[in-house]
Amino acid sequence: MASIILGEKREEVKDGEPIKKACKELGVPFGCKEGICGTCKIIIEEGEENLAPLTEAEEEMEDCDLSHRLACQAKIISGTVIIKIEDEEEDDDEEEDLKEKHNLDEDYLVDEEFEEK
Ligand code: FES
Repeated sequence: MASIILGEKREEVKDGEPIKKACKELGVPFGCKEGICGTCKIIIEEGEENLAPLTEAEEEMEDCDLSHRLACQAKIISGTVIIKIEDEEEDDDEEEDLKEKHNLDEDYLVDEEFEEK
């Protein structure tokens, strides 16, 4: 039996099985479930060697590599894999970086030029 861990939660997966169901139970968001949309992209924090090689869909997906997998496609070989949901941190960081870069505050986004006169 293999396991997927996300934060404090753990789900068991049979050796050699897809990790999709376990990831769903752990709260990973899914879209197409066919390796097309990228919604289910997860970061492998530990145990990437315990997952089967990238699928064709993963190889075609931008930014997918051994530590960035599609939860709807990847299979576990055995052992434990610790994952993180991709969007959680990176979106916040991106927003912060953008604000910092342009020295913006929250009110900047209201552009008065576009208001009707
Ligand atoms: S749910 Fe669309 S790529 Fe996995």
